[in-house]
Amino acid sequence: MFQPTSGSNGGGGGGGGTYSNGVHHEGGGSGGSGVAGRRFRRGGRGKSRDHAGGTNSRVYQQPQQEAESPPPPCTDFDVAYFHSYAHLGIHEEMIKDRVRTETYRNAILHHQDRIAGKVVVDVGCGTGILSIFCAQAGAKRVYAVDASDIAVQANEVIKANNLSETIIVLHGRVEDVEIDEKVDVIVSEWMGYMLLYESMLGSVITARDRWLKPGGLMLPSFATLYMAPVSRPDRYSESIDFWRNVYGIDMSSMMPLAKQCAFEEPSVETISGENVLTWPHVIKHVDCSTVTIHELESVSTKFKFESMMRAPFHGFAFWFDVEFGVPPIHSSNNNAASAYVDAPNNHVTETSQRRKRSNPNEALVLSTAPEDPPTHWQQTIIYFYDPIEVEQDQVIEGSLVLSQSKEHARFMNIHLEYASGGRCFVKESVMR
Ligand SMILES: C[S@@+](CC[C@H](N)C(=O)[O-])C[C@H]1O[C@@H](n2cnc3c(N)ncnc32)[C@H](O)[C@@H]1O
Repeated sequence: MFQPTSGSNGGGGGGGGTYSNGVHHEGGGSGGSGVAGRRFRRGGRGKSRDHAGGTNSRVYQQPQQEAESPPPPCTDFDVAYFHSYAHLGIHEEMIKDRVRTETYRNAILHHQDRIAGKVVVDVGCGTGILSIFCAQAGAKRVYAVDASDIAVQANEVIKANNLSETIIVLHGRVEDVEIDEKVDVIVSEWMGYMLLYESMLGSVITARDRWLKPGGLMLPSFATLYMAPVSRPDRYSESIDFWRNVYGIDMSSMMPLAKQCAFEEPSVETISGENVLTWPHVIKHVDCSTVTIHELESVSTKFKFESMMRAPFHGFAFWFDVEFGVPPIHSSNNNAASAYVDAPNNHVTETSQRRKRSNPNEALVLSTAPEDPPTHWQQTIIYFYDPIEVEQDQVIEGSLVLSQSKEHARFMNIHLEYASGGRCFVKESVMR
């Protein structure tokens, strides 16, 4: 996922396909674009559908494009997104996140029987680490696709590890590159903050629909987004109450502005299980084998919580987990979710939480929950401008709509309505 940013001004980059360092370059790539404000943590899309034209012995060319709908255009924002992923620091942060990287490695080894001797696509290979794990698990061939210039480095790593015969780096968008065979496995680390920010899952769906054999393996196979009410008195105090007394000066007139600056946009930070007021609610459960791009354009849910304690209620926290299981035969999206969720209101109860934690495949769940070991995703908090004092058992209810921004599909509009203690509120924010 890329880092939420206050603005991006991509430009430049892209261009037709070329080869360098033995890597096949297709479409946009990231060269030359800049990003203003905070840097993206994860990048975007190549610029055009131009192809290299030539052939590369390690690149599988499809002679004629099948009747597919044309790929989405690559915008300047997308170019900036890919450019952000050319920065090694982003990859270093992700690779050093051991919870993330070791769970992927464990999952790939766990599914060795489905990978050995088979063909894999790594959607957004970055440094190539997941492709290499798949090669180590015995994959016959791995297509490592990335539109960012990090693909050039991935190819160097792959050469240095004598894996060039197995791993083929395709430097271009998944939407644009050609692979002329069907594949057995798709692996991708696509999750953004609040799971859906960054919209990379759409590219994984595109890869799945273009290349995955029927019954092929998706890694991860399921993803679930959760929310819960939280109390964060220390955080509130350090940003807002601070202005009451600044070196003995009353600066409390700053407080409205401080609230606006601190809490207007979602905040990515680490909280603990103790901050959470009650069991979480499932916003969306995704079966990666069946989810559609259309389904992700807008996600809405209604929630109802009962606070388990008396506390100031400062906002809602969001987190996700992904699972690397095999879809149960005949399971539908909803059936899969029901393994974790009580049917009414998608509430996760103590019972279902226990059921999940006693899962023998626990190692195959990558969780970013507050009670689990921290990851670089942390949690995302939507703060209120003013806390609500809630009593034990007090009901907190409302609705949430997460929708892709029209301005830029990688941004997320968040519409939150909530009511508690007889008062109703609305909060609109954009994660950009
Ligand atoms: C979160 S990083 C993961 C990198 C690597 N797989 C890992 O696990 O360390 C996502 C990568 O996907 C690439 N990416 C995102 N969307 C893509 C697309 N549509 N086509 C090709 N690459 C894409 C980005 O450039 C980025 O390098």
